[in-house]
Amino acid sequence: MWPQLALFYLLMAWPTESSAQVVDLPFMEYLDSSRLVLLRWGFDEVQGNITFTVSIQTTGWIGFGLSPNGNMIGADIVTGGVGTSGIYFKDRHSTGNFLPMEDREQSYDLLSMTEVEGRTSMTFRRAIQTCDEDDFHITAKPIKLIYAYGETDEMKYHSTRRGTKEVNLLKYMPRVTLPDGVYFDFTVDNIPIPARKTHYHCRVKKMPRLNVTHHVYRIEPVIDNLDLVHHMLLYGCPRNVTDDYDGNCYTGNIVDSCFKVTAAWAVGGGAFELPEEAGIPIGGNNSNILYRLEIHYNNPTSVAGRQDSSGLRLYYTSKLRKHSVGTLTTGVVPAGVYTIPRGATQFHTYGTCNTSLFSELMQGPVPDLQVFAMLLHTHLAGRTIRAGLFRDGKQVDFLAVDKNYDFEMQETVNVGNIKTIKPNDDILVECTYNTTNRNGYTTMGLSTTDEMCLAFLLYYPEIPVHTCWSLPNMSNIENVNQPADQQNITNYENELRTNPQIQIVTDDRSLSFVHVDGMVLNMKDTPAVSCRSNPPTVTTASSGGSRHRLDVGGGGGGGGGALLLLLLLWSAV
Ligand SMILES: *[C@@H]1O[C@H](CO)[C@@H](O)[C@H](O)[C@H]1NC(C)=O
Ligand SMILES: *[C@@H]1O[C@H](CO)[C@@H](O)[C@H](O)[C@H]1NC(C)=O
Ligand SMILES: *[C@@H]1O[C@H](CO)[C@@H](O)[C@H](O)[C@H]1NC(C)=O
Ligand SMILES: *[C@@H]1O[C@H](CO)[C@@H](O)[C@H](O)[C@H]1NC(C)=O
Ligand SMILES: *[C@@H]1O[C@H](CO)[C@@H](O)[C@H](O)[C@H]1NC(C)=O
Ligand SMILES: *[C@@H]1O[C@H](CO)[C@@H](O)[C@H](O)[C@H]1NC(C)=O
Ligand SMILES: *[C@@H]1O[C@H](CO)[C@@H](O)[C@H](O)[C@H]1NC(C)=O
Ligand SMILES: *[C@@H]1O[C@H](CO)[C@@H](O)[C@H](O)[C@H]1NC(C)=O
Repeated sequence: MWPQLALFYLLMAWPTESSAQVVDLPFMEYLDSSRLVLLRWGFDEVQGNITFTVSIQTTGWIGFGLSPNGNMIGADIVTGGVGTSGIYFKDRHSTGNFLPMEDREQSYDLLSMTEVEGRTSMTFRRAIQTCDEDDFHITAKPIKLIYAYGETDEMKYHSTRRGTKEVNLLKYMPRVTLPDGVYFDFTVDNIPIPARKTHYHCRVKKMPRLNVTHHVYRIEPVIDNLDLVHHMLLYGCPRNVTDDYDGNCYTGNIVDSCFKVTAAWAVGGGAFELPEEAGIPIGGNNSNILYRLEIHYNNPTSVAGRQDSSGLRLYYTSKLRKHSVGTLTTGVVPAGVYTIPRGATQFHTYGTCNTSLFSELMQGPVPDLQVFAMLLHTHLAGRTIRAGLFRDGKQVDFLAVDKNYDFEMQETVNVGNIKTIKPNDDILVECTYNTTNRNGYTTMGLSTTDEMCLAFLLYYPEIPVHTCWSLPNMSNIENVNQPADQQNITNYENELRTNPQIQIVTDDRSLSFVHVDGMVLNMKDTPAVSCRSNPPTVTTASSGGSRHRLDVGGGGGGGGGALLLLLLLWSAV
């Protein structure tokens, strides 16, 4: 058995390029200051697995662990190496400062082990939650990672070849301080906050003049009134918006057409730093473009007499990163015609994005889009948000699953494994609401007591399409506002889901394309998360289930979409 296994690992480890890259691991950190010990990792929350590559400048044994306190004692440790008699690898745990014991249950799977140019690299995978008491319980909190290594393959005392570093594996954000990093504050200036529950203030102006393209790599909130500022979005404007503006949003002004999300922050979030290979482009060809900062003030007690100077701090650099980042807004158009009945414990809404419409707007080929981070957004009644990725009508992945949506805690998060949206894929955003404590129906709209269902996807390379969302054609739906009992609520929910969906895509020029017979594909159930002894075996995508194809009217039309969109938004305010 063992020689065969060793052969298998050897085959995996050396020959081809593809085997070297077992999975694409998006995150990396050096665990030591001399940069000899490199950790890469990635995870899939839905599959419930996490993969690590530990790479250390030695030809001896290497060890990596998750520790409750930064020491060896109580730590969950894996050790391995390439020795004279082959590859070795073990899942261990430590009860003292001596060679850690082998776990009875081996929960880590070795994917590859190499020794190249004096550097040993091992890639291994485990379930995020294993059932073994001897394994560390990985959560979305900072974890003390430990490492050690030897000069030979004989596993003896590591002496000073050891160290520790604290990293949040599941909510990772790089921390890069660039020497030439300058920043710009895009804020409002002492504006009065009106004494009403919901207020949207818009400030339209230019960024600093930059003759060549720069990349924004870090976005920090600058918050004046922590109790009132609920979310902030910075949008790029189309070129025919040429004048500054400082006033209410969505009043029918041309600045309402600034809808290209450039940066976002919502309550509970902190600073967001982009991965090292990506930056948000500003300046250069875009140096004449205006940007609209939208601040949503949530003032439930309608306090009067407050002023605010909040906004976003954008750190930017002239050292361009590999990719320019775009944000794609997906989900349900926040238009007042879409209503959610009261008394529902789990009401589902669906927003679809049909990326086959991109090529019609771009009039050219659409690249694969690599999604690396996202911000999910609903209001108070939202409980769950899921986003599915579909190819040829079948679900191939989940882009996001948040089963415990928390209105007070909304952050842009890096996804554990980069998700690829291929040309013609469909994206489905599903939100689940609980309206048992509402007296009347809830509309999709801008106020905090209205609802939203949005997923902002950060991806590269940037394309000129920025919004791709939908809403059901409501015109055939009866009893829109007040289905009273659960059966009627379910019927209504089904009607919304199976009716033709009006899909709208919009580009940087504010041109839109509308498709009036989109459909909501069937999203798979989220796999139940429980502990697992071994990482999952490869799962294949199941069929998309039954599909409802309703042909109503023609295929679509250009131009009118932006207007339709704005009409819907204005009606929602
Ligand atoms: C999770 O497991 C699946 C199935 O084994 C695999 O395809 C995927 O690459 C794994 N992802 C990570 C990040 O480990
Ligand atoms: C940018 O270009 C403008 C017009 O071409 C020029 O006046 C200005 O000096 C340039 N600024 C910088 C910083 O190069
Ligand atoms: C800027 O615009 C010019 C002309 O439209 C184009 O040739 C060039 O590629 C653009 N540069 C960038 C960085 O987009
Ligand atoms: C819905 O919300 C109510 C009150 O807000 C709560 O009591 C109930 O448990 C929730 N139901 C579900 C299914 O989440
Ligand atoms: C359900 O809806 C139907 C028609 O839309 C209505 O006649 C009926 O009264 C409703 N039932 C309840 C219990 O509200
Ligand atoms: C701005 O330009 C877009 C197309 O680029 C056009 O659809 C829209 O009508 C223009 N708006 C105004 C007010 O001129
Ligand atoms: C919605 O459906 C009605 C009735 O089938 C149809 O007349 C109307 O054109 C549809 N609206 C859109 C925007 O497709
Ligand atoms: C997306 O658009 C394509 C082409 O217009 C169409 O064939 C397909 O059915 C649409 N998909 C969905 C889910 O609406």
